[in-house]
Amino acid sequence: MSTRTESFEALAARLTPACEALIAQYEEPRSALLPIMHLFQENEGFVSPEAMRFAASILGVSPAVVESTVSFYTLFYRRPVGKYVLQVCRGLSCTVSGAEEIMKYFREKLGIGHLQTSDDGLFSYEEVECLAACDKPTCMQVNLEFFYSLTSAMIDEMIAAMRAGTFAVAPMAQTQTPGKTWSVKQDGEVSMGRKSLGATDVPHPNNAGGLGDASGLIMLDRFVTNEIAMRGRSNERLVQDASSVADVLGDHEHAGH
Ligand code: FES
Repeated sequence: MSTRTESFEALAARLTPACEALIAQYEEPRSALLPIMHLFQENEGFVSPEAMRFAASILGVSPAVVESTVSFYTLFYRRPVGKYVLQVCRGLSCTVSGAEEIMKYFREKLGIGHLQTSDDGLFSYEEVECLAACDKPTCMQVNLEFFYSLTSAMIDEMIAAMRAGTFAVAPMAQTQTPGKTWSVKQDGEVSMGRKSLGATDVPHPNNAGGLGDASGLIMLDRFVTNEIAMRGRSNERLVQDASSVADVLGDHEHAGH
C-alpha cells in the first residue's frame, strides 16, 4: 500500500532547482550524484528507481552508473524503510563493551532482527560495522544522529519517545509503506561470494555482462593454459559455457599474450 501523497513528477519538479544548484557547485555534473541522491532520500525516505532515472537524466549519465553508485553505499536505501532507522555498532570496541547484549535487547524489544522493519513501519533495525566512535561504546545512529554509551534504560526511553512522536531526532520521510526488509537480495548474494550469472547473449567480452576487461581474459587464459577444469568451478554463464570462453580467447588471441 502506498502512502505517497505527491507524485514523483511533482517531487522531481519541486527538487529540480535544488538539483541544479548542486550541479552548479561542481566542475563535472556527475560529481553531484551523491548529494542529489541524498536529497531524494530525504524527501522520499529512500532512493526510488524513478529518482535514480531522474538523476541519470539530469546528470547526463547512464542509469547503470547511478544504480551502481547508489548500490555501493549502504546509507542509501533502495527500498522503503521505517521512520526511524536504528543502526547499532557491532565493531570490535563496541563488542568488547557489551554490544551483543545491547543488540539482543533491541531485537527483543522491537521484535525484529537485523535488516528488518517493524510491521507498523516505525522502526528499521540494522547491526553495522564500526561507526568511528570507538571511544564511546556501545554506540548507534538513529537516522544518522549519534547516540553513545547505550544502556537498556536509554533504549527503553528512546523507543518510548519514538512511539510517542517526541524523540529528539526527526523521523525520516516515508512516502511508501516499507516491506519486511529494505535489503536487496542480489546484493546479499554478491557479498556472500555468489556472483551474478551475467547477462545472456553477450558475445563480446567488453560488452556489459561479458567476460570483462583484459585482466579477466588474462585470468581465463591462465585457466585454459594450465588446463584447470573450469566447469563446475563457477556459476558464471560464460565460464559454464566452455565453447564461448574458447571463442572469446580465440578472437582476442589470448589478449595479446
Ligand atoms: S567499534 Fe563501535 S564505533 Fe568503533
